[in-house]
Amino acid sequence: SQVRVAILGATGAVGAELLELLESRNFPLTHLKLLASPRSAGRTLQFRGESLPVEAVGEDSFKEVDLVLASAGGSTSKAWASKAVEQGAVVVDNSSAFRMNPDVPLVIPEVNPEAAAKHKGIIANPNCTTILMAVAVWPLHQVQPIQRIVVATYQSASGAGRRAMEELKAQAQAILQEQTPPTESFPYPLAFNLFPHNSPLNDQGYCEEEMKMVNETRKIFNDPQIRISATCVRVPVLRAHSEAINLEFAQPMSVATAKELLANAPGVRLVEDWQANYFPMPIDATGKDDVLVGRIRQDLSHPSGLEIWLSGDQIRKGAALNAVQIAELLVERNWLKPATAMMAY
Ligand code: A2P
Repeated sequence: SQVRVAILGATGAVGAELLELLESRNFPLTHLKLLASPRSAGRTLQFRGESLPVEAVGEDSFKEVDLVLASAGGSTSKAWASKAVEQGAVVVDNSSAFRMNPDVPLVIPEVNPEAAAKHKGIIANPNCTTILMAVAVWPLHQVQPIQRIVVATYQSASGAGRRAMEELKAQAQAILQEQTPPTESFPYPLAFNLFPHNSPLNDQGYCEEEMKMVNETRKIFNDPQIRISATCVRVPVLRAHSEAINLEFAQPMSVATAKELLANAPGVRLVEDWQANYFPMPIDATGKDDVLVGRIRQDLSHPSGLEIWLSGDQIRKGAALNAVQIAELLVERNWLKPATAMMAY
Protein backbone atom coordinates (compact mmCIF):
# COMPACT_ATOMS: atom_id res chain seq x y z
CA SER A 1 0.00 0.00 0.00
CA GLN A 2 1.06 3.54 -0.75
CA VAL A 3 0.85 5.71 2.32
CA ARG A 4 1.52 9.43 2.10
CA VAL A 5 2.29 10.69 5.60
CA ALA A 6 2.44 14.14 7.20
CA ILE A 7 3.86 14.91 10.64
CA LEU A 8 2.23 17.97 12.22
CA GLY A 9 4.66 19.21 14.88
CA ALA A 10 7.72 17.68 13.19
CA THR A 11 10.16 20.01 14.96
CA GLY A 12 9.04 19.11 18.50
CA ALA A 13 10.35 16.47 20.90
CA VAL A 14 7.69 13.94 19.86
CA GLY A 15 8.04 14.98 16.18
CA ALA A 16 11.75 14.09 16.21
CA GLU A 17 10.92 10.69 17.65
CA LEU A 18 8.16 10.12 15.07
CA LEU A 19 10.71 10.72 12.30
CA GLU A 20 13.16 8.31 13.89
CA LEU A 21 10.51 5.60 14.38
CA LEU A 22 9.08 5.86 10.84
CA GLU A 23 12.63 5.33 9.58
CA SER A 24 13.79 2.60 11.97
CA ARG A 25 10.54 0.61 11.78
CA ASN A 26 10.55 0.92 7.99
CA PHE A 27 7.02 2.30 7.88
CA PRO A 28 5.57 1.75 4.37
CA LEU A 29 5.37 5.40 3.36
CA THR A 30 5.89 6.80 -0.13
CA HIS A 31 5.92 10.46 0.79
CA LEU A 32 6.60 12.36 4.00
CA LYS A 33 5.59 15.94 4.63
CA LEU A 34 6.93 17.84 7.64
CA LEU A 35 4.65 20.49 9.11
CA ALA A 36 5.16 22.92 12.00
CA SER A 37 4.49 26.56 12.85
CA PRO A 38 5.60 29.42 10.56
CA ARG A 39 8.58 29.83 12.92
CA SER A 40 10.10 26.64 11.53
CA ALA A 41 9.38 27.14 7.81
CA GLY A 42 12.59 26.79 5.85
CA ARG A 43 14.29 24.45 8.33
CA THR A 44 15.20 20.97 7.15
CA LEU A 45 15.16 17.63 8.98
CA GLN A 46 16.86 14.36 8.05
CA PHE A 47 14.86 11.32 6.97
CA ARG A 48 16.32 8.20 5.31
CA GLY A 49 19.48 10.11 4.46
CA GLU A 50 17.65 13.02 2.83
CA SER A 51 17.05 16.58 3.98
CA LEU A 52 13.33 17.29 3.98
CA PRO A 53 11.97 20.84 4.23
CA VAL A 54 9.70 21.87 7.11
CA GLU A 55 6.60 23.73 5.92
CA ALA A 56 4.26 26.01 7.87
CA VAL A 57 0.93 24.21 8.19
CA GLY A 58 -1.73 25.78 5.94
CA GLU A 59 -5.02 25.24 4.11
CA ASP A 60 -3.45 23.06 1.40
CA SER A 61 -1.15 21.02 3.63
CA PHE A 62 -3.26 17.83 3.66
CA LYS A 63 -4.35 17.60 0.00
CA GLU A 64 -2.21 14.62 -0.96
CA VAL A 65 -1.88 13.03 2.43
CA ASP A 66 -3.38 9.71 3.65
CA LEU A 67 -2.19 9.79 7.25
CA VAL A 68 -1.40 12.66 9.61
CA LEU A 69 0.59 12.07 12.79
CA ALA A 70 -0.25 15.16 14.85
CA SER A 71 1.80 16.24 17.84
CA ALA A 72 1.64 20.01 17.99
CA GLY A 73 -0.62 20.59 20.99
CA GLY A 74 -4.38 20.68 21.50
CA SER A 75 -5.14 24.03 19.91
CA THR A 76 -3.20 23.18 16.74
CA SER A 77 -5.01 19.84 16.49
CA LYS A 78 -8.37 21.53 17.00
CA ALA A 79 -7.52 24.00 14.25
CA TRP A 80 -6.29 21.46 11.67
CA ALA A 81 -7.55 17.91 12.31
CA SER A 82 -10.99 18.36 10.78
CA LYS A 83 -9.44 20.10 7.75
CA ALA A 84 -7.15 17.11 7.26
CA VAL A 85 -10.11 14.70 7.55
CA GLU A 86 -12.12 16.76 5.06
CA GLN A 87 -9.23 16.45 2.62
CA GLY A 88 -9.30 12.65 2.93
CA ALA A 89 -6.63 11.95 5.53
CA VAL A 90 -6.86 9.90 8.72
CA VAL A 91 -5.40 11.71 11.75
CA VAL A 92 -3.65 9.98 14.65
CA ASP A 93 -3.70 12.77 17.20
CA ASN A 94 -1.34 12.93 20.14
CA SER A 95 -3.07 15.88 21.82
CA SER A 96 -5.86 15.77 24.39
CA ALA A 97 -8.26 17.64 22.07
CA PHE A 98 -10.39 14.67 20.97
CA ARG A 99 -9.59 11.87 23.43
CA MET A 100 -12.90 11.87 25.27
CA ASN A 101 -15.03 12.49 22.16
CA PRO A 102 -17.31 9.40 21.86
CA ASP A 103 -16.75 9.34 18.07
CA VAL A 104 -12.97 9.14 18.50
CA PRO A 105 -11.33 5.82 19.39
CA LEU A 106 -8.68 6.10 22.11
CA VAL A 107 -6.20 3.37 21.30
CA ILE A 108 -3.27 1.48 22.78
CA PRO A 109 -2.47 -1.33 20.30
CA GLU A 110 -1.51 -3.78 23.11
CA VAL A 111 -4.82 -3.13 24.88
CA ASN A 112 -7.71 -2.24 22.55
CA PRO A 113 -6.62 -2.49 18.90
CA GLU A 114 -10.15 -3.33 17.73
CA ALA A 115 -11.40 0.10 18.83
CA ALA A 116 -9.42 1.66 15.97
CA ALA A 117 -11.64 -0.02 13.37
CA LYS A 118 -14.52 2.30 14.22
CA HIS A 119 -12.71 5.54 13.53
CA LYS A 120 -14.38 8.39 11.65
CA GLY A 121 -11.20 10.08 10.54
CA ILE A 122 -9.56 10.80 13.90
CA ILE A 123 -7.94 8.34 16.31
CA ALA A 124 -6.56 9.69 19.58
CA ASN A 125 -3.32 8.67 21.22
CA PRO A 126 -3.83 8.58 25.01
CA ASN A 127 -1.99 10.70 27.57
CA CYS A 128 1.55 9.45 28.24
CA THR A 129 1.11 8.47 31.90
CA THR A 130 -2.14 6.70 30.99
CA ILE A 131 -0.45 4.67 28.23
CA LEU A 132 2.37 3.52 30.49
CA MET A 133 0.00 2.49 33.29
CA ALA A 134 -2.49 0.78 30.97
CA VAL A 135 0.16 -1.31 29.20
CA ALA A 136 1.32 -2.68 32.57
CA VAL A 137 -2.08 -3.09 34.24
CA TRP A 138 -4.17 -4.49 31.36
CA PRO A 139 -2.56 -7.98 31.30
CA LEU A 140 -3.45 -8.36 34.99
CA HIS A 141 -6.93 -6.82 34.71
CA GLN A 142 -7.85 -9.28 31.94
CA VAL A 143 -7.10 -12.27 34.19
CA GLN A 144 -8.39 -10.92 37.50
CA PRO A 145 -10.57 -7.78 37.41
CA ILE A 146 -9.11 -4.76 39.17
CA GLN A 147 -11.59 -2.72 41.16
CA ARG A 148 -9.43 0.19 42.24
CA ILE A 149 -6.12 1.79 41.24
CA VAL A 150 -4.21 4.34 43.32
CA VAL A 151 -1.28 5.77 41.41
CA ALA A 152 1.43 8.36 42.02
CA THR A 153 3.48 9.54 39.05
CA TYR A 154 7.04 10.84 38.76
CA GLN A 155 6.91 12.69 35.44
CA SER A 156 9.89 13.94 33.47
CA ALA A 157 10.39 17.31 31.80
CA SER A 158 9.91 15.78 28.32
CA GLY A 159 6.14 15.68 28.85
CA ALA A 160 6.14 19.47 28.64
CA GLY A 161 8.01 19.48 25.31
CA ARG A 162 11.41 20.20 23.89
CA ARG A 163 11.76 23.71 25.34
CA ALA A 164 10.94 22.37 28.80
CA MET A 165 13.76 19.80 28.55
CA GLU A 166 16.19 22.58 27.62
CA GLU A 167 14.83 24.65 30.51
CA LEU A 168 15.52 21.88 33.03
CA LYS A 169 19.16 21.77 31.90
CA ALA A 170 19.44 25.55 31.99
CA GLN A 171 17.92 25.59 35.50
CA ALA A 172 20.42 23.03 36.76
CA GLN A 173 23.29 25.05 35.33
CA ALA A 174 21.96 28.31 36.78
CA ILE A 175 21.50 26.81 40.25
CA LEU A 176 25.02 25.31 40.23
CA GLN A 177 26.32 28.79 39.43
CA GLU A 178 24.15 30.28 42.19
CA GLN A 179 22.05 32.22 39.68
CA THR A 180 18.25 32.51 39.42
CA PRO A 181 16.94 29.58 37.34
CA PRO A 182 14.81 30.47 34.26
CA THR A 183 11.10 29.58 34.58
CA GLU A 184 9.32 29.99 31.25
CA SER A 185 8.06 26.50 30.44
CA PHE A 186 7.60 25.58 34.09
CA PRO A 187 5.96 27.70 36.82
CA TYR A 188 8.70 26.90 39.36
CA PRO A 189 12.27 25.65 39.30
CA LEU A 190 12.20 21.91 38.52
CA ALA A 191 15.95 21.32 38.89
CA PHE A 192 16.73 20.11 42.44
CA ASN A 193 12.99 20.34 43.16
CA LEU A 194 9.64 18.75 42.25
CA PHE A 195 6.05 19.97 42.21
CA PRO A 196 2.54 18.60 41.74
CA HIS A 197 1.58 18.67 38.05
CA ASN A 198 0.64 22.24 37.15
CA SER A 199 -2.37 21.53 34.89
CA PRO A 200 -5.66 23.26 35.87
CA LEU A 201 -7.41 22.02 39.03
CA ASN A 202 -11.05 20.94 39.26
CA ASP A 203 -13.50 21.59 42.12
CA GLN A 204 -12.49 18.34 43.81
CA GLY A 205 -8.82 19.34 43.85
CA TYR A 206 -7.61 17.03 41.09
CA CYS A 207 -5.55 18.45 38.23
CA GLU A 208 -6.28 17.76 34.56
CA GLU A 209 -3.38 15.34 34.22
CA GLU A 210 -4.78 13.26 37.10
CA MET A 211 -8.29 13.25 35.63
CA LYS A 212 -6.86 12.13 32.26
CA MET A 213 -5.55 9.01 33.99
CA VAL A 214 -9.01 8.35 35.45
CA ASN A 215 -11.17 9.05 32.40
CA GLU A 216 -8.88 7.80 29.66
CA THR A 217 -8.13 4.50 31.42
CA ARG A 218 -11.87 3.89 31.83
CA LYS A 219 -12.43 4.55 28.13
CA ILE A 220 -9.49 2.40 26.94
CA PHE A 221 -10.41 -0.52 29.23
CA ASN A 222 -14.08 -0.03 28.31
CA ASP A 223 -14.70 -0.24 32.05
CA PRO A 224 -16.56 2.82 33.37
CA GLN A 225 -16.71 1.27 36.86
CA ILE A 226 -13.01 0.96 37.62
CA ARG A 227 -12.10 3.36 40.46
CA ILE A 228 -8.89 5.34 40.00
CA SER A 229 -7.22 8.04 42.06
CA ALA A 230 -4.01 9.67 40.82
CA THR A 231 -1.43 12.10 42.14
CA CYS A 232 0.73 13.47 39.32
CA VAL A 233 4.09 15.03 40.12
CA ARG A 234 6.72 16.62 37.88
CA VAL A 235 10.26 15.51 38.82
CA PRO A 236 13.66 16.73 37.58
CA VAL A 237 14.18 13.84 35.15
CA LEU A 238 14.80 14.71 31.51
CA ARG A 239 12.94 11.90 29.83
CA ALA A 240 10.89 8.83 30.88
CA HIS A 241 8.14 8.81 33.48
CA SER A 242 7.83 6.50 36.50
CA GLU A 243 4.73 5.42 38.40
CA ALA A 244 3.99 3.76 41.75
CA ILE A 245 0.75 1.85 41.27
CA ASN A 246 -1.40 0.17 43.90
CA LEU A 247 -3.89 -2.34 42.52
CA GLU A 248 -6.90 -3.71 44.35
CA PHE A 249 -8.32 -6.82 42.70
CA ALA A 250 -11.77 -8.36 43.18
CA GLN A 251 -10.00 -11.57 44.33
CA PRO A 252 -6.36 -11.91 45.40
CA MET A 253 -3.75 -12.31 42.67
CA SER A 254 -0.46 -13.84 43.75
CA VAL A 255 2.83 -12.05 43.12
CA ALA A 256 3.99 -15.11 41.15
CA THR A 257 0.98 -14.96 38.83
CA ALA A 258 1.39 -11.22 38.28
CA LYS A 259 5.08 -11.69 37.45
CA GLU A 260 4.35 -14.47 35.00
CA LEU A 261 1.64 -12.42 33.27
CA LEU A 262 3.88 -9.35 33.04
CA ALA A 263 6.89 -11.36 31.85
CA ASN A 264 4.79 -12.49 28.86
CA ALA A 265 2.85 -9.29 28.21
CA PRO A 266 3.39 -7.35 24.96
CA GLY A 267 5.13 -4.02 25.39
CA VAL A 268 6.28 -4.86 28.94
CA ARG A 269 9.65 -5.94 30.26
CA LEU A 270 9.87 -7.35 33.77
CA VAL A 271 12.93 -5.76 35.39
CA GLU A 272 13.76 -6.73 38.95
CA ASP A 273 16.85 -7.93 40.75
CA TRP A 274 15.88 -8.14 44.40
CA GLN A 275 19.38 -9.09 45.55
CA ALA A 276 20.94 -6.05 43.89
CA ASN A 277 17.97 -3.82 44.78
CA TYR A 278 17.76 -3.00 41.07
CA PHE A 279 14.42 -1.96 39.60
CA PRO A 280 13.09 0.16 36.69
CA MET A 281 14.64 3.62 36.45
CA PRO A 282 13.98 6.41 33.96
CA ILE A 283 17.62 6.35 32.87
CA ASP A 284 17.19 2.71 31.77
CA ALA A 285 13.76 3.23 30.21
CA THR A 286 15.00 6.12 28.05
CA GLY A 287 15.07 5.18 24.37
CA LYS A 288 13.40 1.80 25.00
CA ASP A 289 10.16 0.64 23.43
CA ASP A 290 9.05 -1.49 26.38
CA VAL A 291 7.58 -0.25 29.65
CA LEU A 292 9.89 -1.51 32.42
CA VAL A 293 7.91 -3.01 35.32
CA GLY A 294 9.19 -4.38 38.62
CA ARG A 295 9.08 -4.32 42.42
CA ILE A 296 5.92 -6.38 42.28
CA ARG A 297 4.90 -7.15 45.83
CA GLN A 298 1.93 -8.03 47.98
CA ASP A 299 0.22 -4.98 49.49
CA LEU A 300 0.73 -5.51 53.23
CA SER A 301 -2.42 -3.51 53.96
CA HIS A 302 -4.84 -5.47 51.77
CA PRO A 303 -5.18 -9.20 50.94
CA SER A 304 -6.31 -8.45 47.35
CA GLY A 305 -3.74 -5.72 46.77
CA LEU A 306 -0.52 -5.61 44.75
CA GLU A 307 2.08 -2.87 44.47
CA ILE A 308 3.92 -2.36 41.18
CA TRP A 309 6.50 0.15 39.96
CA LEU A 310 7.28 1.14 36.39
CA SER A 311 9.40 3.42 34.23
CA GLY A 312 8.63 4.07 30.57
CA ASP A 313 9.92 6.40 27.89
CA GLN A 314 7.37 9.19 27.77
CA ILE A 315 8.34 10.29 24.26
CA ARG A 316 8.47 6.76 22.85
CA LYS A 317 5.73 4.44 24.17
CA GLY A 318 4.09 7.38 25.94
CA ALA A 319 3.67 9.27 22.65
CA ALA A 320 5.47 8.68 19.34
CA LEU A 321 5.78 4.89 19.41
CA ASN A 322 2.15 4.38 20.36
CA ALA A 323 1.10 6.70 17.50
CA VAL A 324 3.28 4.84 14.98
CA GLN A 325 1.94 1.49 16.25
CA ILE A 326 -1.61 2.79 15.67
CA ALA A 327 -0.57 3.84 12.14
CA GLU A 328 0.92 0.37 11.51
CA LEU A 329 -2.30 -1.22 12.78
CA LEU A 330 -4.36 0.90 10.36
CA VAL A 331 -2.17 -0.15 7.43
CA GLU A 332 -2.02 -3.86 8.37
CA ARG A 333 -5.77 -4.23 8.92
CA ASN A 334 -6.70 -2.00 6.00
CA TRP A 335 -8.42 0.51 8.30
CA LEU A 336 -6.63 3.48 6.77
CA LYS A 337 -9.58 4.69 4.81
CA PRO A 338 -10.98 8.17 4.75
CA ALA A 339 -14.02 8.86 6.89
CA THR A 340 -17.25 7.77 5.19
CA ALA A 341 -19.60 9.41 7.65
CA MET A 342 -18.03 12.81 8.26
CA MET A 343 -18.08 14.02 11.83
CA ALA A 344 -18.14 17.62 12.89
CA TYR A 345 -15.11 17.77 15.18
P1 A2P B 1 7.60 24.97 16.05
O1 A2P B 1 8.89 24.26 16.32
O2 A2P B 1 7.59 25.61 14.68
O3 A2P B 1 7.15 25.87 17.16
P2 A2P B 1 7.10 20.49 21.73
O4 A2P B 1 5.95 19.77 22.34
O5 A2P B 1 8.38 19.71 21.79
O6 A2P B 1 7.25 21.88 22.26
O7 A2P B 1 6.76 20.65 20.14
C1 A2P B 1 5.62 21.28 19.67
C2 A2P B 1 5.51 21.11 18.16
O8 A2P B 1 4.28 21.72 17.73
C3 A2P B 1 6.60 21.83 17.38
O9 A2P B 1 6.89 21.10 16.20
C4 A2P B 1 5.96 23.17 17.05
O10 A2P B 1 6.47 23.80 15.91
C5 A2P B 1 4.55 22.70 16.75
N1 A2P B 1 3.60 23.81 16.87
C6 A2P B 1 3.37 24.59 17.95
N2 A2P B 1 2.43 25.53 17.68
C7 A2P B 1 2.06 25.34 16.38
C8 A2P B 1 1.14 25.98 15.50
N3 A2P B 1 0.39 27.01 15.90
N4 A2P B 1 1.02 25.50 14.23
C9 A2P B 1 1.78 24.46 13.82
N5 A2P B 1 2.67 23.81 14.62
C10 A2P B 1 2.81 24.24 15.87
